[in-house]
Amino acid sequence: MTDKRILITGGAGFIGGNFVARALDLELGQVLVLDKFTYAGHEATLRQWEDHLNYELVRGDICDSDLVANILKDFHPTWLVHFAAESHVDRSIDSAANFIQTNIVGTFNLLEQCLSYWRTLDREDAAGFRFHHVSTDEVYGSLGATGYFTETTPYAPNSPYAASKAGSDHLVRAYHHTHKLPVTISNCSNNYGPFQFPEKLMPLVLLNALEGKPVPVYGDGQNVRDWLYVGDHCDAILQILAHGSKGETYNVGGHCEKTNLELIYALFEALTRHSELVAKAGFSPRDDYRELITFVTDRPGHDRRYAIDASRIERELGWRPATAFTDGLDQTVSWYLHNLDWCREVQQDNYERSRLGLAAEQ
Ligand code: NAD
Ligand code: DAU
Repeated sequence: MTDKRILITGGAGFIGGNFVARALDLELGQVLVLDKFTYAGHEATLRQWEDHLNYELVRGDICDSDLVANILKDFHPTWLVHFAAESHVDRSIDSAANFIQTNIVGTFNLLEQCLSYWRTLDREDAAGFRFHHVSTDEVYGSLGATGYFTETTPYAPNSPYAASKAGSDHLVRAYHHTHKLPVTISNCSNNYGPFQFPEKLMPLVLLNALEGKPVPVYGDGQNVRDWLYVGDHCDAILQILAHGSKGETYNVGGHCEKTNLELIYALFEALTRHSELVAKAGFSPRDDYRELITFVTDRPGHDRRYAIDASRIERELGWRPATAFTDGLDQTVSWYLHNLDWCREVQQDNYERSRLGLAAEQ
């Protein structure tokens, strides 16, 4: 057990929830989650930790200055890991206001409060403090058929989501440059794994295929994403927190480019490998899941290709993705088949919100 005190924003979401599990499993110290429980934050993701001695939860908004200031004063974190965000591109196209509020204003508020807190720390604590900002490869825009995003690729965000994350990255960087706040930033590619809300491609395809529903493919299905198992992303963040240089950015990716159709076919193959489990879970395994594929209208402004050059974090911090794509897929399919109660609970919660006309942030 180490003596870290880790404040995790957005810990009830997909990657944050996996990071909470990693931190508690590794016995890194005391964990406090700050989460607003939007439609993307789930009690079911954190329930397993409720009685854990090293875990605390505060429901609240990262935009609330008094709340954040009090948490910093009372919890006295050594690390703040900032996952909280509006994260779904399609929702940012429908309505961007929540993205600007949480991703830009919320990050600004965390930085302001952290700066005040950090200035109260003694020399040793101030030197050890880290604000880690979890960001995305989408800030770099879209690649053609060749090339990779490096840490020096110029920003060219194309969706309101990507633009809001780009704005937050610039703020984080500026608080280091101007105020010397000890920050680090990671820009990561597409994650997959347990606890991902089924509005994102991988769990959506998985659950639709099990239920025999159409699998919607945007455009021609040839857009390329670089897939990384979520546990490997969490390990990259831990390496950056422990050994990364202050004020620096690290690109994180899976060396695993797939067109969306390739990814979907690979998922179907994983489902076929798990036919017995599929049947045990009460679904009828299909001979050919491909017949469910339905091409639909493309996402407006759809980025064609993302691919990360992760050589910096590999060279300087010794991190590499540890999970082979097929193993990660098998773990993910198996997790969803063993956790259908989680899927039903988060879908029911989302359904109730829409029925009651609640906005996404409520
Ligand atoms: P998610 O949508 O699954 O979870 C977001 C969490 O933030 C939820 O628990 C939600 O309740 C919480 N939240 C939202 N607004 C809040 C607010 N104002 N105050 C407090 N909590 C709030 O997101 P994710 O996919 O886990 O992504 C986490 C972070 O990683 C995001 O910053 C995202 O941009 C980044 N990222 C995601 C991916 C990916 O593939 N999912 C890849 C790279 C980077
Ligand atoms: O690259 C990192 C980003 O990855 C993160 O910053 C985002 O938070 C995360 O949501 C993810 O963004 P994408 O837009 O790449 O993920 P999504 O799962 O929405 O879509 C993946 C690809 O699949 C994309 O090309 C759009 C396509 N797609 C998506 C859905 C939901 C479909 O073809 N059909 C669908 O129904």
